[in-house]
Amino acid sequence: MDLERDYLLQNYARYPLVIARGKGCYVYSPDGRRYLDFIAGIGVNALGHAHPRILKAIREQAGLLIHCSNLYYNQYQGPLAKRLAEVSGLQRTFFANSGAEAMECALKMVRAHGRALDAEKYEVISLDNSFHGRTLGALSITGQAKYRADFEPLLPGVKFVPANDIAALEAAVGERTAGIVLEMIQGEGGVCPLTHEYVAKARQLADRYNALLVADEVQCGVGRPGTYFAYQRSLPVILPDILAAAKPLAAGLPLGVVVANEKAAAAIRTGMHGSTFGGGALACRVALEVLDAIEELLPGIQRVGGYFHVVLNELARKHSFVKEVRGFGLMIGMELAIPGKQIVVDAMAEGLLINCTHDTVLRFLPPYIVTEKEVDQAVKVLAKLFAKVK
Ligand SMILES: Cc1ncc(COP(=O)(O)O)c(C=O)c1O
Repeated sequence: MDLERDYLLQNYARYPLVIARGKGCYVYSPDGRRYLDFIAGIGVNALGHAHPRILKAIREQAGLLIHCSNLYYNQYQGPLAKRLAEVSGLQRTFFANSGAEAMECALKMVRAHGRALDAEKYEVISLDNSFHGRTLGALSITGQAKYRADFEPLLPGVKFVPANDIAALEAAVGERTAGIVLEMIQGEGGVCPLTHEYVAKARQLADRYNALLVADEVQCGVGRPGTYFAYQRSLPVILPDILAAAKPLAAGLPLGVVVANEKAAAAIRTGMHGSTFGGGALACRVALEVLDAIEELLPGIQRVGGYFHVVLNELARKHSFVKEVRGFGLMIGMELAIPGKQIVVDAMAEGLLINCTHDTVLRFLPPYIVTEKEVDQAVKVLAKLFAKVK
């Protein structure tokens, strides 16, 4: 901690906890204190910690090939892209290293698609309260002033509209619109799902004006909602043109992807985009392992997620300061009428890691291997802390 204070950019406000190792749904401090991990590296450690299947793949692949750049082929980009096509219903993948990088690629596709049609077709519609990452492009479509203010002016041509307001969306989209960007469940914005009708309208408007519909599923995708992607939750499935995913995809190794249909993919030709690290053999092999594991875990995510919602709602009914429990599967937010930060700090002292987003929303993103027993354990801690709230 002292070294970080002296040698790191002071951009993070960390909790005073060092995590030395993890196993399953638990992490341990260097002195051996155990914590139930219900934030999982902000939705990254989907298979928990030290999963035997992931360890085996990492050990084997690290001894064979970690990286060879995109000058050459490795053996795992093709199979992983095929698997992503199967689970997403889209066709072509670009491999990046983070959620923000995936969104940069999506934005470049949107811009290139628009520009190929008309030099004035560069507008992007994004939502109030959204979060798409910290790079300048991703920040430009992030609808929260607190992230943007210090870096203005950002990309021109971005229009923000309130989520789930169909009339506002209709008023904003037009001939100059090149893309509409949606988080199917806003994560940093407080775990706020979009309605099926709203997404259907966005699809319809994108088609009418030949704009690309982008689903940012960096936080809400890859199994967390109990389906591979949140856009598959309600039927009929409304396919985006471009999907961005990242966090849980390679079990903690940095990997972000854009998966696009042929129309969107056609916007990017040879030389227009790239990455030195993106799609490394190690990350891609691990991601294949993660996707196989998720296929087996989806019923459990639905079952345990459903149970978690029920017990959180029971707790909510006992405390008038709890306003709402929201989310799907294992992406759950509990909105309070009071700031959530102290509860997060107190939960840590009780051996439970959660976090608070949007000031008043307790956010739970447990690993997909979580059981009802661990949910009970977490809710017991919350019940104890809630009882003390004045
Ligand atoms: C919806 C969404 N998009 C993009 C990002 C940015 O991802 P990263 O932090 O990997 O760049 C995040 C991160 O929280 C996110 O929640």
